[in-house]
This record gives sequence, C-alpha cells and structure tokens, in this order.
Amino acid sequence: MKKLILFLLANGIGAGLFAQSLDETKIDTIIARMSIEEKAGQMTNMALVTIADEKNGTVVLNMEKLQQAIQVYHVGSYQNVLNHAYSLDEWHRIVDTIQSVTLRLEKHKVPSLYCIDAVHGTNYTKGSALFPHNLAMAATRNPDLATAGGRITAMEMRASGIRYNFSPVLDVGRQPLWPRFAETFGEDVYLVKTMGAATIKGYEGTDLKSTTSVAACMKHYLGYAVPASGKDRAPAYISDIQLREYFLPPFQEAVQTGTRTLMVNSAEINGIPVHANRYLLTDLLRNELGFKGVVISDWEDVKKLYERHKTAESYKEAVYQSVTAGIDLCIVPVDYNFTQYLIQLVKEGRISEQRIDRSVKRILMLKKELGLFDVPFVEPSAIVQFGKPEYRTTSLEAAREAITLLKNEKNVLPLAKNKKILVIGPTADSKTSLCGAWSYTWQGKDPAYFDVRDLTVLAAIREKTAGAAGEVKFATVKEFESNTALAKKADYIVVCAGEDSYAETPGNINSLELPDDQQRLVALLAKSGKPVIMVLIEGRPRIVREIEPLCKGIVMAYWPGPQGGRAIADILFGDVNPSGKLPFTYPRNTGDIIAYDHKLLDEAVEKVDPYSYTLEFNPQWQFGFGLSYTSFAYSNLTLSTDTLRGNAVLKISVTVKNTGAKAGKEAVELYSKDMFASITPSVKRLRKFTKITLEPGATQQVMFELTAADVAFVNKELKWVTEKGEFEVMVAGLKKSFVYQ
Ligand code: BGC
Repeated sequence: MKKLILFLLANGIGAGLFAQSLDETKIDTIIARMSIEEKAGQMTNMALVTIADEKNGTVVLNMEKLQQAIQVYHVGSYQNVLNHAYSLDEWHRIVDTIQSVTLRLEKHKVPSLYCIDAVHGTNYTKGSALFPHNLAMAATRNPDLATAGGRITAMEMRASGIRYNFSPVLDVGRQPLWPRFAETFGEDVYLVKTMGAATIKGYEGTDLKSTTSVAACMKHYLGYAVPASGKDRAPAYISDIQLREYFLPPFQEAVQTGTRTLMVNSAEINGIPVHANRYLLTDLLRNELGFKGVVISDWEDVKKLYERHKTAESYKEAVYQSVTAGIDLCIVPVDYNFTQYLIQLVKEGRISEQRIDRSVKRILMLKKELGLFDVPFVEPSAIVQFGKPEYRTTSLEAAREAITLLKNEKNVLPLAKNKKILVIGPTADSKTSLCGAWSYTWQGKDPAYFDVRDLTVLAAIREKTAGAAGEVKFATVKEFESNTALAKKADYIVVCAGEDSYAETPGNINSLELPDDQQRLVALLAKSGKPVIMVLIEGRPRIVREIEPLCKGIVMAYWPGPQGGRAIADILFGDVNPSGKLPFTYPRNTGDIIAYDHKLLDEAVEKVDPYSYTLEFNPQWQFGFGLSYTSFAYSNLTLSTDTLRGNAVLKISVTVKNTGAKAGKEAVELYSKDMFASITPSVKRLRKFTKITLEPGATQQVMFELTAADVAFVNKELKWVTEKGEFEVMVAGLKKSFVYQ
C-alpha cells in the first residue's frame, strides 16, 4: 500500500486525490457539528425578494429579514433579482452584505452561495455581454463559439460576485410550440449534447476556484422540452426507449464531463412528477450515470407536488416525496415551509439524518470547490474581467455564424447599398425581439436596459448604407397601411417578422402560425411587385407556408442577441457570407410537426391503393438547411472499410470544394442510417459535424471517425446496442454503405 501511495505521489497522480479527500474530511467535520436545523437550511434556496425590497429602482437589503433567514432558518443560498438587472456595484453590495452577515451569524462559518440564471450571457448584470440564445448557437455548428460565450459569461458572473449559473438547458427541443424552445440547442440529440458540453466547458473551465469559472447547472432533467400540449410545464409522455435514446444522452455527457449541478424538470413524465421520481433522480441519475453533484429543484416545485401535481396530500408530504426521490437543494424560494417540514420529517425519523447529510455534503463540497471557504467575498481580480470590448465581438461573431439564409431566389441577396430600401415590420426596430428572453429582465421586454451602442436591424441597415447613394425608409405598419404606395417607391422591401421577447409560461401560444397581421402585411407588401426579403426574428419556428412564396429572400435570425441587428445587416448586404444551418425542422403545417430523425412510418402514406404507399416528408425547411452566397460541391465520399468490426474505427472522408466566387464557411454534417434493426430505425441521424472555411476555388478533405457506439440505439431491454447489419452514411447528397459485423 505504502509503495502504491509513493508511486502515485511520485507521478503526481495522488495530489488531486489527497487534496479532495482533505476537503471532504473538512466538510465531514463541519457536518458532524451541524444541527438538523442548520442542515435543512443548507438545503434551502431563497429568492432575493425574501430579504430585499426595491426602493427607487435600487435593491435595499432588509437586514431584519436577512438576519432572520440566517439566524432562524440557516439559509445557505439565495438567487435571482427582484425585477431587473443590477449594476456591478449593486451586485457587490448585495452579495457581500449577505456574505458578511452569514459569516458573522453562521456558527460553522459556512459561506453562502448566490445563484443566477445567466442563460445567454450574464443577463442580470447591467452592461454585460449578451449572446445569441442557445438555439442560435446551435445553428452556428461551432462549439468553440459556445465555449467562448460560456467563458465570457463565467467571467462576467464572477465579476458580479456570483459563482453558480442555472444554465445550460440540455433539454432536446422537439416540440417547437414550447415557449422555451429558444433555450434549447435544437431537436437533435448529438447537436444538443455537443453544444451543451461545449457551453459547460466554458462555464466550468478546469478549476471552479478560478475567477474565470462558475458552476454550471444542466437543466431540466428530464423531458421538460416535450410537453404533449406544447405548453410550458405540461405533462410529457415518453417511452423508456425514447427517454434513454433521445433525452438522457445530453445529461449523460454532461455528467461524464464533470458538470457540478443539475436542475429538475418542473413537469411530469408518464404521470409521475419528476420532482417525486426516485427512479429518475436516484436510480438512473446517481446509481446508473454516476452523478456526484447537487440536484436542485426548480422554482417552488416541491410545493407544487401538493398544490398542482396532486401526488402529495400536504406540503409536508411533498417535502418527503421530493427529498426521498433525491432532491438536495430546494428553490423554495419565498417561504420557509420546506425548511420546517424537512426538520420535522428528520425529527420524526421519516427521513434519516444520514440522508440529509449526503445532500448537505454535496452542497458544501460545491461551495468548497468554488473557493467560497477561501475567498468568500467578491474577488477584485474577477471584477476587472467585466465589460471588455472583445466580448461584444464574440457575440457578433456568434450571431453572424448563426443567421441562416433560407431562401434566395435569383440571388436577390446580397442587396446593393445604393438602393432604395423600405424597412418595415414589428421586429425591425426592436432590441427586445433580437435579445429575447432573460435579457436584463426575465421577460426581456424592457429596452431601457439595453446598451445604446447596440443597434436594431433598422439602425444597423442605416449605419451600413450611410454614405451610399441609396435611401432607407422606415414605416410603421400603420403608416404603410395608410400609404401603401411607400412600397412602390422602394427597390427592395425588408420586412422583419417574428416574435417579441417572452420567457417561460407567458410565452405559451395556441398556434405556431406566424400571427395573421404579419402574414397580411407581407401579402400587402408583395402586392407592390417589389422584391420582399423577410427576416424572421423569433424564438421558435412560426409557420410561414402561405407567405413564403411571396418572398424572394428569407433570413432566419432566431434570437441572435444584441449584436443581431449588425449581423443581420452584414448578411443582407453581403459583408458576411451566411453559414448557419437550421438546428430544427422548420414545419410547414401545424399538424405536421415531425423531427428530421423520424421513423419511416411518419412518412409512409397509403393513398387510394392500400398496397402501395408514398413517402411524404415535406417540412418548410429541413433540419441542417442553410444557404450560402457561394456554393460548395461535395465529392469522393470514402470509407476506410466497408466492414466494421467490434470497436474498430471507421474513417470517413469527403472532399468539399468552394465552387463559387466568395469565401465561405460550411458546416459539414455526417448522417447515418441503420437499414434494419429490432427497434424501428430512424430515417437518418446526425452523427458528426465540423465547420470549415474555404476561399473561392479551394478544396478541403474532411475526415470523420465513426465507431459502432456512434450508431448504437436503445433496444427493448433498454440497452445501448449496435446490431449487425448494413448501415448507410450520408454527407450532403453523397451516400456509402458499410456492414457492421
Ligand atoms: C425556471 C428555471 C430557472 C429558475 C430560477 C424557473 O422558473 O424554470 O429554468 O432556473 O426559475 O430562476
């Protein structure tokens, strides 16, 4: 044994091991001295509103309530804002005051932890850099941008004095009605897994103590994004196979890469609220996936087991159900009932003290890892990281790579700068629709907080064309309706349609169609005979079937963030060549919401003759679709072998050539198809992707590596398997087969 320890130390292997166990011992010693009340307090997360008021737009901590939270309830963590983002100074005052009162009153000197939703940048600190929402990030097909955005977010959070981020959403977005669709990385499992892991890498870095890192929270485990009704926090019905094959992998990947915390889905799967589902929260998550971190409830969701789900007959029973299911930390967050009932349950012996010790240990270990025991106050070296100009550049880069060109009839785009352009539409002069949810306010609807340097689409078009001989005319919808001749005077019409900002349940809708008034506007504009270019600024795909033929050009901007106005103008005028690819299937009809990786039966339609069928899959635009101002030709799809055995690696190469006249970026995607399998195979699945840049005329050979595990599926025994047989691999229009033996 001694020899083994010496060997480990000599090779530097033991250092981390021993340091960690030393930390653990310290934490165990603290826990051994804590009362049940103090432990329950560590498992309690309260909203800022319970200890603060807003006076004249500033937060004033209520010292009496704060002292009560700490002295009486031993609260260990806090979160959120009252109404809107705060300045750096306000945050420092809030976080440091809570911390100093905690350290003065808390017997064991356990520091408090502040948590925030920084879901596309540090969106609750004034002056922070915001980024495109995750859906747009997924359209970039560039994980490095996701990591860069995550890292900047971590730095600006840490500069604000906050070390725990309730982000990213790892839900797979397969229900576009869901009002949080924009927070997902789209409908494909591999894309979500890859972009999610890249974002977490940015947040957590390699050492949580570092002033460039914060703890991430993978959320919302599990199946939140696929409510049957499309409404927020509504029931989902998911088979075990689907659960494991589609919804679990992004979380599994994040567990493997060491993500520290996880938030639970507020809703229910197959009739069981996830907050009370011991199978999901303990058996699957801890015992099977090996997750060691903190499991946090979502907002008031323990209480809701009683009030809304009706699986618990009292609030106290709800606490019992959720803690025995596996919750460590509860976002209570506005009363102390959770805390009190938990204490009672432990004292009554219904929940063992060892059970809560495990949760408290995870929470204290997180605080330890975040360096809060060493440097509990705002770190001066972190503050200087705030607000660097290059953050805005990264955000602009991301928006430019996200924006997806969906239609470009007769190369109507890019536009010349010296033309007469009419700019119109509800999202044309709006910063809130560019930024969407969680932008300095929860609903993101208050433009007062936005940086004056950021431009709307209209302002960016004006900036871009300033000095050119053309003219940019803006008209409100009302102005245009009373003077439709305005359209006739223009060479081009840029109509910005889509959605304004919304977050969570207030964003529920009953129809995915683009609102009627917008469709009417586009139709009226098209009547002028002038080329209409529609820019869609929206958090989810609003159906445009009827008006699509009326537009010569269509640009999908998602919620591209505050630099979106500039990025859209860059693309409209050709200063940037678009390279975004749809991260979801853009539906054509409300009753035809089918993901790209559906089953053949979703397509096979028996017409008059029952013995023959036709294949019908006709979305408005396919997953992965996105045009460029140049053209790319794919050739020489080559496999290193046509027989793959065991765990061997199949090397796949393809040649991509820029055959157009402009330099461009291209996301090269590799799909596979299992020809026959014991569980009906999908028509195709994305397996790998990479993004390349090519000058005009340039050629690049792209290599992918594929193993049997990459094409595996979940069988009826709920095991990942790759069955022997034939597979096809597809890149762009090319196809090759191999046999797995
Ligand atoms: C949301 C979570 C969020 C939490 C804390 C809830 O309403 O569902 O995603 O992290 O609030 O703000």
